[in-house]
Amino acid sequence: MIFDAIRESHDLQRDLCRKLAASRGNMAAREILFLQLKVELMAHAAAEERFLYASLLMEDSGLDASRHALHEHHEVDELLDDLSSQDKKRDGWIATAKQLSFKVRHHLKEEESKFFQLAGRLLPEAKKEQLGRKYAKEIVRMRVHYAAEYKLVAVSGASGQVKPAKPAFDKPATRGSASAGAQLRGKSKPRRTR
Ligand SMILES: [Fe+2]
Ligand SMILES: [Fe+2]
Repeated sequence: MIFDAIRESHDLQRDLCRKLAASRGNMAAREILFLQLKVELMAHAAAEERFLYASLLMEDSGLDASRHALHEHHEVDELLDDLSSQDKKRDGWIATAKQLSFKVRHHLKEEESKFFQLAGRLLPEAKKEQLGRKYAKEIVRMRVHYAAEYKLVAVSGASGQVKPAKPAFDKPATRGSASAGAQLRGKSKPRRTR
């Protein structure tokens, strides 16, 4: 069911928001937490927009809720942009991070307490099952897509979740050039895939 799959990401978002807002002193840890949260928020919003809100938008009584949710996704994006460009050591940064945490929590609560019930009534059961499967695949694909922009985070092959990246020698196939990965795997030439 799509709502259970979405709640899994919501719980990760709440946990990361709490840890980020409480982060002190250790700037390296703060940077990693921020990137984990950023990738999770962006991947979740993309998958949710494609496999929940796109269907809800097609229903007349789903229009207002969908537009409201998409507007809040955009507000979260803007806060993420601010936080990405500002100095993480400054007091103003943690104040903006707390603002982000507040906005995310408000959004999740509204989705879970109002929009899911609305979508539950408007979408047929078989459609909800099908959307749940598509959403679950898409969020992992989008986590990989966004995490590829940063060296400090990577997606775990086992859990599909965004984790702090291990040192480069631990994961030759996911970062760096194909030839470097091949050397680290003990091969002379990169593996070719079609
Ligand atoms: Fe959302
Ligand atoms: Fe959501």
